[in-house]
Amino acid sequence: MKKIIVIQLLMFSIGTALAATDNRWYSSVQVNQGEQVFKQNCASCHGQNAEATTNWKQTDANGKYPPPPLNGTAHAWHHDIELLRKTIREGGQKLGGVMPPFQDKLSAEQIDQAIAFFQSKWSDDIYAKWSGRFEETSLPSLNDVKLALNNQITRHLKKRVGNTQLGSPKKTDIEDVWQVKMQNRYVYLIDDGQYAMIGDLVDLKNGVNLTEQERRVSALDAINAYKDTDLVIYEPKGKIKTTLNVFTDTSCPYCRKLHKEIPKLLDAGIKVRYLPFARGGSRGPGYQTLRSVWCAENRSKAMTDAKNQDTVDLPDGTCQDADIVDQGYVTGNQVGVTGTPALFKATGEKVEGYVPYQQLIPMLVQQ
Ligand code: HEC
Repeated sequence: MKKIIVIQLLMFSIGTALAATDNRWYSSVQVNQGEQVFKQNCASCHGQNAEATTNWKQTDANGKYPPPPLNGTAHAWHHDIELLRKTIREGGQKLGGVMPPFQDKLSAEQIDQAIAFFQSKWSDDIYAKWSGRFEETSLPSLNDVKLALNNQITRHLKKRVGNTQLGSPKKTDIEDVWQVKMQNRYVYLIDDGQYAMIGDLVDLKNGVNLTEQERRVSALDAINAYKDTDLVIYEPKGKIKTTLNVFTDTSCPYCRKLHKEIPKLLDAGIKVRYLPFARGGSRGPGYQTLRSVWCAENRSKAMTDAKNQDTVDLPDGTCQDADIVDQGYVTGNQVGVTGTPALFKATGEKVEGYVPYQQLIPMLVQQ
């Protein structure tokens, strides 16, 4: 696996990054791509590893200089990045030299990649001398590098699943492995994003399911984005010991069963927050009733009526609050709800399906 130099780089401010010897402006991805660019366009003259020509100070029979090494042993490090770019864009022929121009052949991005490749051959010492010589502003900004890296890491995945479904890549504790959220799943990208693994990452030494940890935090974030006034709430009279979030549908038998047991949960100090989740979305059997419940003046009573299939007194579902029913469906899908009822403990842990109160209560509160 290739080393991603930029991981360290991003943690430093620009100033430190330039002063510290092992922190460079480019990412390993740029170096890898630069290697392709270099081998195809430059290696015939400058050598496979930018090492040619050894006798670069000696002119040939025509009085022309041979291609100089770009690996840090010649003069390339005397030029700032703009001059390096310009040399590659315009070549040396205009100035009586031999090197052809590349501006019509290579994009600015590819030129930077080629520079990243030959600079990766430079010793830390040479690199530090080079970066110390020039204004910091002449280097590509760290943000550009960061963005480019994000895009590079996810570029294969984006081609497969599209932009909109992907979160931005996050570094994991494992070197060169990145985590990306894809809807409600977590994908691990390896080898600069060429390979994806879908599943849970477990720290065996410490016995922690790292993916599950993430999943819980992000489920709680999504659920807690709803205010109580957006939802249907049942609160215990006494002290609240814990809160249970439930994605519910009025048309689901096990949701009705759970609903009947709410008084027991309240007695045990459990606050219940209902989020709407119409199985099957807007064409689902409970969708219209859920909208009606959300439009009712007394939602918790309307919910009880709806669960008893007593819908005569419910308002029609055309008010603005009924939009929460659509939002609840989106949120449910985001947090991995596949059926109702779907229960989320205060820790964010998901419990799939109905659990009788005798078992549910001890799962939620310490007694
Ligand atoms: C046909 C041979 C040839 C090719 C192909 C070529 N170069 Fe050059 N390059 C030269 C020569 C010769 C020089 C010295 C100046 C001159 O004669 O134009 C040079 C000079 C340079 C310099 C300035 C080095 C210094 O110490 O001042 C850089 C940077 C450079 N080349 C980069 C590249 C890159 C990057 C590529 C590929 C995209 C490339 N060259 C392709 C022949 C070549």
